[in-house]
Amino acid sequence: MKHTRRPIGIFDSGLGGLTVFKELRAMLPGEDIIYFGDTARVPYGTKSPEAVKAFSREIAAFLLGRKIKLLLVACNTASSLALEEIRSMSPVPVLGVIAPGAGAALSEAPHGGRVLVIGTSATVASRAYSRALSGGRVRVTEKACPLFVPLVEEGWCSKPVAAEVAREYLAPFRGKADVLILGCTHYPMLKNVIARVVGPDVRIIDSARAAAQAALGELERRGLLAGGSRGRSEFIVSDAPERFSALALKLLGIRTGKVKVKRF
Ligand code: DGL
Repeated sequence: MKHTRRPIGIFDSGLGGLTVFKELRAMLPGEDIIYFGDTARVPYGTKSPEAVKAFSREIAAFLLGRKIKLLLVACNTASSLALEEIRSMSPVPVLGVIAPGAGAALSEAPHGGRVLVIGTSATVASRAYSRALSGGRVRVTEKACPLFVPLVEEGWCSKPVAAEVAREYLAPFRGKADVLILGCTHYPMLKNVIARVVGPDVRIIDSARAAAQAALGELERRGLLAGGSRGRSEFIVSDAPERFSALALKLLGIRTGKVKVKRF
């Protein structure tokens, strides 16, 4: 197969990475995209680094076997803990969500400032965003917000409980951050709720959009863009394909068609 016609591989611990898929699909309508969601083993955000690395290696090997031209690790937790390992086994470029999100934050605060990163417990414990931001003149605080993921998956983004939980986690940071990074796949779906708590002066970085832009840039630089407008999307999960499909539609308006199952 011609290199440009090969698919892009994306993976996430479950369905949250569909926020990245959606951005990428809109930016690159001509590309074939294979999305893998590890629905049998989600959440990654509460697992050990060893487990997240082992799952990520398995999924990367599976997608590389599908002759992809680029691998985008859409999961913040997997990007924080397993990116280097995946890179070392991949003959094609591998991008994560941390560097693009950090880069976008630094361009919002070129002369310094306070950056607040929110993510899963595992992402925050890894300090991956703090490392990625260390080249800038910013002060970084990281805060785990573990209840946001189940709230989103329950479809409760606009219920009062979402605002209550957001206040509990983030009200102490009101007036104390200039830039906020949504460092988890699910958080873009709570962006409005989060914005109301942290206040109107905080610039909010959606790492899903930044990652999709990075993938586009990488393909462009390497002359690997497919062009056109009729790219196919294929969805594969490790368990419960109907739930995945129903939530993709409910939360993000994505029609997946038939979702395949690959068990490890
Ligand atoms: N995809 C994960 C992330 O972005 C969130 C869900 C999970 O904990 O697996 O960190």
